[in-house]
Amino acid sequence: QAVVAIVPAAGIGSRMGADRPKQYLEVCGQSILAHTLDRLLSHPQISQVIVALHPDDDIFDSLPQAIHPKLIKVLGGGERADSVLAALQLAPQNSWALVHDAARPCLTAADIDKLLASRGQFPQGAILAMPVRDTMKRANQLGGIGTTVCRDDLWHALTPQLFPTGQLKGYLNAAMAAGAVVTDEASAMEWAGISPGLVSGRADNIKVTHPDDLGLAELFLMRALS
Ligand code: C5P
Repeated sequence: QAVVAIVPAAGIGSRMGADRPKQYLEVCGQSILAHTLDRLLSHPQISQVIVALHPDDDIFDSLPQAIHPKLIKVLGGGERADSVLAALQLAPQNSWALVHDAARPCLTAADIDKLLASRGQFPQGAILAMPVRDTMKRANQLGGIGTTVCRDDLWHALTPQLFPTGQLKGYLNAAMAAGAVVTDEASAMEWAGISPGLVSGRADNIKVTHPDDLGLAELFLMRALS
């Protein structure tokens, strides 16, 4: 079965406070999105990369990756899940959708391989994730500590997240229509009663969200590219 990568890149990245969407900030010689696309376009098992873009995006077409034969563009939607759904419309029905955040440029081929290899163990899909390392606190309403949350079974959900395309499309649509909170693809599968696999990923697969993350991403990319 074909594996199609889906990259929601239609967000405006307001937490970054920059003059352009965060995926277009530069690290190590090219934009974050360009690095992300390179990782996906060069993977031999990924046959297509569908990238969802904001309607006002006037930067994407200037990237060298924009004319790659594996790349397809689509207009994104109001929320991340809408952007993923728009991209899923173009994916072959009988394929696997590997959804990856535009703002995670430090993904390695080894992590993609590991997730793809988990399909035997998790035929309904799986996500890259990392066990929580720090002690976790739930805040009270005064901004103090309410409780300490046991971290033994807590994981950070990362991307890529890998699901059979038809199921992901159906459950994302249904979960959105039901008003469920869908901040990643796995949430829609969970909403449908499915328990996706947790595949242990790398700590350097960070999502560039705040300005401080740019320096970290640069360090990780320099290491990977050297
Ligand atoms: O805002 P956040 O960092 O959670 O966004 C995660 C990813 O979803 C980003 O790559 C962003 O561009 C994308 N997104 C999207 N469409 C939206 C909102 C976010 O494709 N409407």
